[in-house]
This record gives sequence, structure tokens and C-alpha cells, in this order.
Amino acid sequence: MRLKNKVAIVTGAAHGIGRSIAELFSGEGAAVLIADLDPDAGQEVVAAIAAQGGVAEFRPCDVGSRDSVAEMVEAAARFSGCIDVLCNNAAYIGEFHGVLDAADEEWERCLRVQVLGTNNCTRAVLPYMLEQGAGSIVNVVSIQAMVGCPTSVAYTAAKSALLGFTLSAAYDYGPHNVRVNSLSPGPIQTRISPKPGDPRYQWQCDQTLLGRTGQPREVALAALFLASDESSYITGVNLPVDGGWTAR
Ligand SMILES: NC(=O)c1ccc[n+]([C@@H]2O[C@H](COP(=O)([O-])OP(=O)(O)OC[C@H]3O[C@@H](n4cnc5c(N)ncnc54)[C@H](O)[C@@H]3O)[C@@H](O)[C@H]2O)c1
Repeated sequence: MRLKNKVAIVTGAAHGIGRSIAELFSGEGAAVLIADLDPDAGQEVVAAIAAQGGVAEFRPCDVGSRDSVAEMVEAAARFSGCIDVLCNNAAYIGEFHGVLDAADEEWERCLRVQVLGTNNCTRAVLPYMLEQGAGSIVNVVSIQAMVGCPTSVAYTAAKSALLGFTLSAAYDYGPHNVRVNSLSPGPIQTRISPKPGDPRYQWQCDQTLLGRTGQPREVALAALFLASDESSYITGVNLPVDGGWTAR
């Protein structure tokens, strides 16, 4: 029970990697606030966690909206008065383009959700963590911030910004025992991923040293490590969870 009696917020937890993180955190003893745009899927996660004997609550939340985030964080604080873990996982994942084709709208959504969303949630939980004298923030980035990727300039630029965000926040709040780390998934099988049979799927497998794509739970286990006291002397790092893609 590595998160026993802790309160954790996971953004974008209605689907995919975020859902897996929320379920694992709950299994490790945390009360989990599921923050997402998708209420039906979010409530499904709450029901799945409750069926396993865990404690979770869903709050409809657009991380890009400060008001929405403030309301969601207040709800999380009602579990026990503390907020111990924030996992900034939500991202705008749409049609991506290169510089000549990326519309202002695509840039605006990538920056608002990925960058300002991470900032909004971090800013809202920090007062609790500073008061407690402890906290762990885990930002979900992407190996695209390290190796790039074709035709995804706004998404890649926004994810790259999160690496700088992580370092800067780690500097500022390390002296208060608030750790800030990131993890960078490689190709993980979620609803957004190419499926077996798609040439892009085989290409992704071939880029890794392990010769396969990853499962959401394999990312969740890394998030658990960074969220829990098992990483108590680690801050300001970016952990690739990519089957060795970035080691090539
Ligand atoms: N799947 C991969 O291969 C992969 C690779 C690298 C990085 N990532 C990152 O992992 C994270 C999760 O991706 P996924 O594959 O599970 O995608 P997904 O689309 O299944 O899940 C993303 C979740 O974020 C939510 N969301 C989107 N905008 C939001 C907003 N404004 N406010 C609150 N919630 C919002 C969605 O409703 C959804 O539940 C993302 O940060 C993504 O960039 C994924």
C-alpha cells in the first residue's frame, strides 16, 4: 500500500493511461479524484474503483480553465484536507500538423490543455502541499519531447514545454519537500494508438528495443514510483517509459 491514506488527483483519468494510473493509485491505498472532460467514462472509472473496494470521486473538469480546476481541487481536498499527489496527465490529442498546416486553434488547444492545464492544476494544489510540507507532482510528457515526431509541431512543442516546467517547479519547491518529476511514455496501447495491422503500429514496435508497444499499466507503475515515497530523493527528472525507444 504505497499510497495509503494519501489523496491523489489524476487529470485525464477517464481513459487510457490516466485511468490506469487512477486505478493503480487506488489499489495502493489512495483516495483518487478523477478529473476529466468525459463524465460518462469518468463515472465508469469511479464504479470500477468502488467495485475493488477503493475510494474515488469524479469531477467534470477542463484543466485549461482555472475556475474548473479550482472547483475540482476543492473537491479533492474534501477527502481529508490534504492533497498529496497530482498527476498532470490530461492532454489535447487531435489531428496534428506540421508548421505550415497547424492552425492557430491547434496551437491554442495544445498550449492551453498541456501547458496551462498543468500550470493551473499545479498552482491550485501547491498551497496544500506547502502547508503539509510534502507533495509529489508527476507530469505526463511524451518521448516526442525528446525525439520529435513528424507533423505534430504544436503537440510536440507543448510537451517539450512540460520538461522545462518540471525542472523549474522542482527548483522552486524542492526546498519545501514538494517533488516534481515527469515521465515520458513511448508508444502505449490506448484508444489513440495505431492498432496491430496498421503499418504505423509495426513502425512503433520497431523503434523500441523491446520490439513492442507498452500497456497503460506499465506507465502507471512508473507514475506510482514517482508519486510514492519510494522516490523520496528524486526530483526534477524525466523518466522515459518507452521500451528503450530513446536509448537507441
Ligand atoms: N498513448 C500513447 O502512446 C502516449 C504516448 C506518449 C504520451 N502520451 C500521453 O499520455 C497521456 C494520456 O494519453 P492517452 O493515450 O491515455 O490518451 P486518451 O485520449 O485515452 O486520454 C486522455 C484523457 O484526457 C482527457 N482530457 C483531454 N482534454 C482534457 C481537458 N482539457 N481537461 C481534462 N481532461 C482532458 C480526455 O477526456 C481523456 O480521458 C497524455 O498526456 C498523452 O499525451 C500518450
